Amino acid sequence: MVEVGCWKGKSIAYLGVEIINSGKDIKVDAVDTWAEMESESYHKTDVYVKTNTLYQLFCSNISPVSKVVTPVRLSSLEAANQYADGSLDVVFIDACHEYDCVKKDIAAWLPKVKPNGYFAGHDYLWSSEDAVKRAVDESLSPISVTEGCWVYHKKG
Ligand SMILES: C[S@@+](CC[C@H](N)C(=O)[O-])C[C@H]1O[C@@H](n2cnc3c(N)ncnc32)[C@H](O)[C@@H]1O
Repeated sequence: MVEVGCWKGKSIAYLGVEIINSGKDIKVDAVDTWAEMESESYHKTDVYVKTNTLYQLFCSNISPVSKVVTPVRLSSLEAANQYADGSLDVVFIDACHEYDCVKKDIAAWLPKVKPNGYFAGHDYLWSSEDAVKRAVDESLSPISVTEGCWVYHKKG
């Protein structure tokens, strides 16, 4: 699995706990730059971004689940290039929420998902100017929406 956009590790820490509790042989890669980005307005006031210690904070926060979580410190599009097409069971997108970013993330990561795999992301219902919803609706069909997340089941 890959999560794209991990910030301080909250969602991937939950995921890591569920993976460990499942007893299954599942690994998740955590993709983020952990660096200040123009698209992320909340970066401007965050002390960890300002002091360039965000990555250290992430690693510390996920340390209890580090045996199943591997940080990949690259931009979304750079990271997508590291994976073979059809190699991932699940990709979850929660990175830049601007329309153009989401369109590019979908185009880059969809081919990486295996047939019968799942492609999903956060903030379908709550992004500025409905950017995530518009980008997803134009790119993927059918989707389901649960807890504000969009989910696409790639056909086999
Ligand atoms: C909304 S936060 C993720 C929150 C996280 N999933 C959670 O629930 O704890 C978005 C993250 O995406 C990262 N990000 C934004 N654009 C990115 C890009 N193009 N490539 C990689 N990471 C990006 C930001 O640095 C930020 O850490």
